[in-house]
Formats: sequence, C-alpha cells, structure tokens
Amino acid sequence: MSSREFAAALPEAEGLLCQLTDPIGEELLARAPRLRAISVCAVGYENVDLTATARRGIYVSHTPGVLTEATADHTWALLLAAARRIVEGDTVCRRGRFPGFDLGYLLGSQVSGAILGIVGMGRIGRAVARRAAGFGMTVLCHTRGKARSVREVPMAALLKRSDFVTLHVPGGPATRHLIGRREISMMKRSAILINTSRGSVVDQGALMTALATRRIAAAALDVFEGEPEVPRSLTRLPNVVMTPHVASATIATRRAMAALAARNILAMLLGRPSDATLVKPTL
Ligand code: DGY
Repeated sequence: MSSREFAAALPEAEGLLCQLTDPIGEELLARAPRLRAISVCAVGYENVDLTATARRGIYVSHTPGVLTEATADHTWALLLAAARRIVEGDTVCRRGRFPGFDLGYLLGSQVSGAILGIVGMGRIGRAVARRAAGFGMTVLCHTRGKARSVREVPMAALLKRSDFVTLHVPGGPATRHLIGRREISMMKRSAILINTSRGSVVDQGALMTALATRRIAAAALDVFEGEPEVPRSLTRLPNVVMTPHVASATIATRRAMAALAARNILAMLLGRPSDATLVKPTL
C-alpha cells in the first residue's frame, strides 16, 4: 500500500497487519478510531505502543515460535563466519589474492569445545543452546528460562568467561545498550559478539571502538542501531561480519510468519482472541 492509500484506509480499518518497521503509536491510533486488532508479522513488537493500544482496548498479536529455528540457524551461521573469518577468506579468493597455503595464514577462533554465553534464554536462546551441544561447547546463560545442560551465572561472569557472547533478548527501552562499553570491557580480548536480536541492545559506537582497537576479536551482526543505516566506519572494519536483518528470512519461515499473522488477525477480529498468539500485556 502507498502511504496515501494507507492513510485513506485508516479511518475505516478494524484490523491492521503490520511489520516491525511500522511505528504504531498515538498518532496512528488517533487516525484509526475503529481499530480493534493489530497483528505484527514478527516476534518482536517494540514498534507498538502497548500503553496506547491497551488504553483503547486493542488486541495486539505477534508471531513467536515459527521463526525460532531459522533465527537460531542464522545465529550459528554468523558465529561460524566470524570465528573462521569466512567473509575475509571469500574476499581474498574473489580478488585473486590467495597467497597460497601457509600455516599461519588467516587464523580464526576455535568453536568446538569453546564457551558460549547466551544472553536471553527464551525460545531462540534455547534453540541456539541446543545447536551448541553438537560443537561440544560449554553453555552459560544468565537470564530466566534456563535450559538443561546450560549453566546459569551472573552477567559479569558470563561476559568474562565466554569465548562467544550471543544476544537473544527483546528490543525496547528495558534492553537498550544492555551491552555497552563497560560490558565489552569485561569480555575476553579473543571474544566474539553475535547479535541477531535488536540493534538497540548494543551500544554500536562502543562496539565499533572495541572492534577497531581489538578490545574484542570480532562481531557478527544481523541488526543495527538506526536501521537500515549501517555506519561507514563499521563497514570498514575487517573483524565484523554483517547481514541485513535477515535472521528469520527463509522461505518456509516467512510463509509460516505470514500465515500466523493472518490467522491471528482473523481470530482477533472474529472475537476469538484466545486463538491468537497475543502479546501478553495487551489488555
Ligand atoms: C522478528 O520477528 O522480530 C525478527 O526480527 C524478524 O523476523
């Protein structure tokens, strides 16, 4: 829909199916007085002002569960790419700069047997932990939802001990800059940070400084502060691997997300909100 078509449809709209990039707040809700249901086609829903929707009695749903495995797979793709310097190696081959085999060339970090720190043990964090078993890793976590074979430790210990730190918390004010200069300074110099959650969870400026000064070894990022902007200075760093917010972007997962978002909006509009995967504090 063009923004003009969208604006014209709002006064009559009873349901709204949106993406995580659509800001849903007072301003939009005031233009949609008949709105009863909002279906976000994403697991994260920090784009919706839940206080404003609750005040108007509007149901809000999201798409948890269906994107867990794809996001965990992508987290591992990024972790392995950063650890084994896959993008640097690919670039060297493409540019005809492969100097020939050498024992000391393009050395990366060992993944098998390493320590993986998972910040956020919800569905995705647990799915990431399951995959770590195949690599014989020790898995640490610090938040709720502890899974079997995962050791729960304080955040500081997780940051100090982990070879890899991966973030799986929701976005929004509560987790903004959860990983900042102080937290990065606790990490090993050889550590690698992976973020497939939300850009706001990491202080991007602090991370760029840490990467440039080799305070940590590398980072692998699927999300950025101020998306879709990716700072030039970040793209110039060799020790960062980046993807453009595509952790859940497989054909099967996107189909499942779309289908769930559609089922949700129908359930809410047909008066069966309990059949929808509602955002908990909705009403
Ligand atoms: C989400 O669902 O919140 C992801 O960021 C996109 O799949």
